[in-house]
Amino acid sequence: VKVNGRHTRSIWLGDDGDVRIVDQLELPFRFVVATLRTLDDAVDAIARMRVRGAPLIGATAAYGIALAARTDGGDAALEAAAARLIATRPTAVNLHWAVRRVLGALRGTAVAQRADTALRLAAELCDEDVAINERIGEHGVNVLRQLAARNGGRPVQVLTHCNAGWLATVDWGTALAPVYRAARDGIPVHVWVDETRPRLQGALTAWELEQEGIAHTVIADNAGGHLMQRGAVDVVITGTDRVTRRGAVANKIGTYLKALAAHDNGVPFYVAAPSPSIDWSAADGADVPIEERAAREVTHVHGETADGARIDVRIHREGTNVLNPGFDITPARLITALITERGVVAATEDELAARFGRTGHA
Ligand code: MRU
Repeated sequence: VKVNGRHTRSIWLGDDGDVRIVDQLELPFRFVVATLRTLDDAVDAIARMRVRGAPLIGATAAYGIALAARTDGGDAALEAAAARLIATRPTAVNLHWAVRRVLGALRGTAVAQRADTALRLAAELCDEDVAINERIGEHGVNVLRQLAARNGGRPVQVLTHCNAGWLATVDWGTALAPVYRAARDGIPVHVWVDETRPRLQGALTAWELEQEGIAHTVIADNAGGHLMQRGAVDVVITGTDRVTRRGAVANKIGTYLKALAAHDNGVPFYVAAPSPSIDWSAADGADVPIEERAAREVTHVHGETADGARIDVRIHREGTNVLNPGFDITPARLITALITERGVVAATEDELAARFGRTGHA
């Protein structure tokens, strides 16, 4: 998708052989491209959320293995690099998937060739991510087209949580791919953007939508249920960090509450789910590790002052007890369907297995 009118991905290989990322810690205030030269850079970028969103975390980790191989491509060094990358964020299964895929492909190759091979593998993984998300957009737009037909020309009102747009992937996004496709197909859409406390990923979503010229409104996280009661939401679409084989979905904290409100109000609740986010080894939500993040994300807010300085402001008294789980589980029974690259699929073990044959993450 576009930034200032120019097509941009969230991660790419520079002409100099170093990896480039859009630094998401600078958004929505400044568009800054940062360079990753070493494994440490990749680990830091994922851990500090300079890059974030399950598919993009996976893509960055794949490049991280390549950067590690530049220094030492031996088996022990690459296993150590993999362990460091995987330890950065526990919930998004794409991270394991990407690291294991690159390591598996490197096994049996000459150590001297591994850095170049891994760079190629990471680039392939990125291209695959883009193709998957484009397919999700093509399948998901049918849902929006049907709602538009019912709406008699009024814009389809989509509510989304967190950021599952192109910034969370390599391009297109997952939950926002159908929205971007709809805009290109001339289907009128308006997006309710959950602010998504505490990290405010909604600001990233609003920035993306603004770049693409798509109508949107940021709402406080607590407003969604009210809007659904008033008939102001036609459909909820979120992304996911991990889908269990029985169709439960781990996603950004607060997703579950949106699913409950949608269920209570008869609003369809879709999850855009690329196959690398399916964890066949996890049966139910209880099998998914939920990341617990720093208290500071809750006790402080980060923002810009009137003179453009970026600051943290304390909003809770020092010493206040805080718990900050990063994700929650939405049970399959609250999910209308999963929008995958292979079509719109019921959130059940049978449907997932029929569509993917358990070929995803092992
Ligand atoms: O903590 P984050 O910002 O990495 O969490 C991101 C999400 O929860 C997204 O909804 C999910 O990764 C899907 S992104 C296509």
